[in-house]
Order: sequence, then structure tokens, then C-alpha cells
Amino acid sequence: MCGIIGGVTNQNITPLLLSGLKNLEYRGYDSSGIVVISDKRLLERQRSVGRIANLEKKLIIKNLHGEIGIAHTRWATHGKPSDENAHPHISNSISIVHNGIIENYVNLKNQLITKGYEFTSDTDSEIIAHSIDFAMKTCKSLTSAVQKVVKTLEGSYGLGVISSNFPNKIIAARKGSPLIIGVGKKGNYISSDQMALLSETNKFIFLEDHDIAEIKIDQIKIFDMNSNQVERPIVISNIKAGEVDKGKYSHFMQKEIFEQPQAIRDTLESRITNDKVNCSAFGHNAEKIFKSIKHIQIVACGTSFNAGLVAKYWFEDISKIPCNVEVASEYRYRRPILLDKTLFITLSQSGETADTIEALKSAKKLNRSINSLCICNAAESSLSRISDLVFLTHAGPEIGVASTKSFTTQLVAMALLVCSIGKLKNTIDVDSENLIVQGLKKLPGLVNDALLSDSAIKSLAKSFKDKTSSLFLGRGTMYAIALEGALKLKEISYIHAEAYPAGELKHGPIALIDEDMPVVAVAPNDELLVKLKSNLNEVKSRGSQMIVFEDEKSNIKSLDSMKVFQVTSNLGRITAPIIFTIPLQLLSYHVALVKGTDVDKPRNLAKSVTVE
Ligand code: M6R
Repeated sequence: MCGIIGGVTNQNITPLLLSGLKNLEYRGYDSSGIVVISDKRLLERQRSVGRIANLEKKLIIKNLHGEIGIAHTRWATHGKPSDENAHPHISNSISIVHNGIIENYVNLKNQLITKGYEFTSDTDSEIIAHSIDFAMKTCKSLTSAVQKVVKTLEGSYGLGVISSNFPNKIIAARKGSPLIIGVGKKGNYISSDQMALLSETNKFIFLEDHDIAEIKIDQIKIFDMNSNQVERPIVISNIKAGEVDKGKYSHFMQKEIFEQPQAIRDTLESRITNDKVNCSAFGHNAEKIFKSIKHIQIVACGTSFNAGLVAKYWFEDISKIPCNVEVASEYRYRRPILLDKTLFITLSQSGETADTIEALKSAKKLNRSINSLCICNAAESSLSRISDLVFLTHAGPEIGVASTKSFTTQLVAMALLVCSIGKLKNTIDVDSENLIVQGLKKLPGLVNDALLSDSAIKSLAKSFKDKTSSLFLGRGTMYAIALEGALKLKEISYIHAEAYPAGELKHGPIALIDEDMPVVAVAPNDELLVKLKSNLNEVKSRGSQMIVFEDEKSNIKSLDSMKVFQVTSNLGRITAPIIFTIPLQLLSYHVALVKGTDVDKPRNLAKSVTVE
């Protein structure tokens, strides 16, 4: 999704803006641009479609020099990727960068046209530049002009504004789209995420919705929606600049797959004491809330939704509490029945996914009595700030667009939650808790073992070279793992991949099966294995090439048409879905390499989807 960086310093800001844009690349974008206020008090801009490298080339020909500037990576929503549609946009002395969507832009645009403004892009964002320019005719300061304009905007915005008439300040504003201020030694900065600023500072102020900030080299003033000056805390980030390097790996995704044993260890740390799960790890009030709840509603998107689906099986099977799971973009626009005593759980790596945030907000309106818990990988995210309880997965920064370690650590978090709720509601006894805890403690080692299949899976991936479509099958929690495997494959290799509960195959999808359609099945030795084996026979007899991941007791025979990979030893209900995720991640990674795609930045995708 779009990214913002800006700053006011006592040295040339362009190199910092450029390196910041590179650090924002992982969010997904299709054009980029920079504007600075030059020594002659003029706005100087460069924009380019495609990779940041293209912008860099233009900057070699016409360099920009100034101590104050803003820059942007654009992920197209309104208007195709082009130089004209790239940000920053300019209106006379005003320049802006914008993340989010302005829903009433057509009306505002028409009004501005009647006032004589000419539009040079197809974006919704350009209206903000012209509106501020127009507001400057009656406002005394740039800050008050921005305050006036944002009141007219419907939709979401993270906004950076500069004016060549006020060459010492940046105005930042946010509503529904993340924006932070970096407090540095050589200057102050704005960005849509910490990654872009880690080289300059680890001190951040997280703006709240409707905040407007006036940022100078030596002073930061923040105003709330009523224009009252407010204090927002400075948070010290513990993310290190080095953590966002690829290190010895070829891709961030590969690094993040191999970081999973440590990410799981970090997520478990201090959440289990003396072999007992600490319910208080979910927040001070968690025990009281968990004791009172009767239903669980999980809402999430993409990979996080798949983690929620695994958890649904666990909640009902293990802690005997009814649980629904739904994709956030559907939930937020339905009129669902949200019963009293529901624990509303949002799962999100970034904590900034617009649909998930809005689903939580709409749930709170539907039933004020519910309690919310956010399971998230980003401290101080928008989602965590509006949730009653927060549990941070400690996966560390995830840069690859395809989620990997955030998924497995979400599952660890959910396992701890299932256990906590079960204990407090007396549906899990001491022995069952012990079994879960021992399984979780073994997990980092088991994930390490599963990662050893890397080279075998690399060879296997070659068979996908000419494939255009594939099916993933599983039963029970493995259906959710099949969904996750299929999502990974389509995201980064662009091979069409669909996942089905294996029992559903005969109700339609089996018609697709022929020798060109590889079928990947996840087959641990659990109570559904016999049923799954019959489903696999149905596929085999229709000539498909199959790849089956099993454990040592599944006992599935390898044939010419069926390659069987033993992933690991026999596993428990909690550990199995986590371990079987690993070979599917490796498969999609290696298939993407075979296909030659951009693994970390797959086409059209954004890391964190902060617009609808
Ligand atoms: O940050 P979130 O977990 O809320 O993101 C949700 C999805 O956008 C995300 O999981 C997406 O599906 C990933 N690209 C999957 O690899």
C-alpha cells in the first residue's frame, strides 16, 4: 500500500527521502515521487512510474536539494500507475502526499473546477492540494488551512503537506490511515511506518485519528479534532535497523520462513511459566473477561483469516466454546448478530488493515457490551489502540509481502488463548493443558526439523514450472492450512491455486482434475486420515499428479503419480497445523523462484492493505 516519508532537517533531505522510499518498497507500490523546497524557496519535484530505481535514475539527471521535503510510494487506486498520477501533487505553493481514499473527491473536484483549478491527474488525492491552496486564501497559517480542509474530506487519509511559502514546517494529518512522527537528533520526520525512519531515530509519536501535527526542526505541536493542542507520548521502538536486512538469505520471505523457530520462541517467551499458560499475557483484565465470555467471533483478512479458521476448530474442539470466523471485508458490511458475552478477536500482522479495523469499529457499534482482543505483530498499531485486550506476537518485522512467520506465531498466540480460555472455563483440565504446553515448547525444534525438507521441496518445485492451476486439499484444521498453502502459491508464483476441504471435492471440483492439475494434500495421522485417504484415491484414479505431505505414521504409499513427503514425526492437534504449514511455505517459495517472479514484492499486492 502507499507509503509516506518526509522530514525537516538541517541538511539535504533528498538522500534520506530516497532511502526511506526504499524501506517502504515492501508495502507494495507502482510509482514514487519526491518534492523538496529548494534554497530558492521553490517546490522541486521528481516522479516516476515503476521501481524506486527509476526515480533514482531521474534524480541523477536532475537532483533535488532542500532541507525539507516529502515523498511517496503510490499503490494505484484512482487512476493508473503513471508519472502524472504519482505523488507528490502540487497546487501553486502547496505540495501534498496522501495515503488512503477520499470518497467524496468527485464532488470536491467539481467545486474546485468551478473555482478555476486545473487537474493534472486522475487521482482522488490531487483535490487535497488544490483545496489547501484555496483555503490559504482565507486562512492565516498552513496548519489552519489543513485543519479547514480535512473537515471536508470523507474517507481516509494519512497526509503530509508542505508549502514553499512556509519553508520550515511539515503539516501531518491522519484519519484511518497510519502516520507517525519520528523524533530525531538532526531533525523531525513523518512516515507511514517505522521501517522508513529507523536509520534516523527510534523515537516515534503515533498520531491518533483526526490529529494534525505541525512539525519543525526543533518543535512538534499536535492538535486534536477540536484544534486543541494535545500531548502524544514518545514511544521508543525496539526494532533495530539491521532487522530489516536480508542477511545471508536471497529474499526476505526466505529469511522469514527460516526465522520461524526463533519467532515462535520469542512469542512463547514469558507466556508460559512453570508449564502453565499465563492468562494475564492477554492483558490485566483478561482473566475476568475470559471467564465471562460465551461466544467467540474472529475477524481477519487473508493469511490472518486462515489462522482464525484453524483457531475456530481448536476453540470448539478443545475449549468447547462456540466460535465464528469471518473475513473482515464481509463482516463490516453485514448486519451480523453479535451476542452479549462475545469475545471479538481481530487477527492482524500489521494491525493496520482497514477492513479489520472497520469490522471491529462496526462490532462495537452493534453491541457495546462485547470485549475485544487484538492479536497483532505491531506494537502501537491502530488496531491494538482500539482493542480492550492486546496480545503481541513477537515475530519481528515481516517484510516479505507473503506472510509466513506472522501466520505461525498467530497460531501460537491462538493456542495460548485456547488454553487460557479453556482453563478459566474449566473445559481444559491440568493434563490437557500440560499436553498443549509440552507441544508448544517443542515447536521451535519441530519447525527446525520441518525446515530440513527445504532441498527436497526445491526439487519438487520444478514440476510446477509449466503449471497454471493447482488444488490444495486438507480436512479439519488442515483445510485451513491448505487454504494458506494455496494463498501463498497464488500470491508469489501467480499460479491459480484453490483449496478445498478434501470431502468437498466430489461435490464439484473433482471435475477439474486431470494430468495437468497438480493436487497438493496435507495428510497428518489424525482421526480424519482414513477419510482423506479415500479422497486421495478419488483424485489418483483420475490421473492427477499428487504431492502429499504426511507424518511418520500416516503411511501413505509413494507412487509414480503420487510423491509423498514425510514432514515430521507424529504431532498433536495444536502442533500439527503449524508444522504442516512449513513445507507449503517452502513449496510456494521455490515455485516462485522457478517461475522467476518478484518473491518479496509480488505484482499488484501490498503488505498492509490500509484502504478498502
Ligand atoms: O496485516 P494483516 O494480517 O491484517 O494482513 C491481512 C492480509 O492482507 C494479509 O494476510 C495478506 O493476505 C498477505 N499478503 C498474505 O500473505
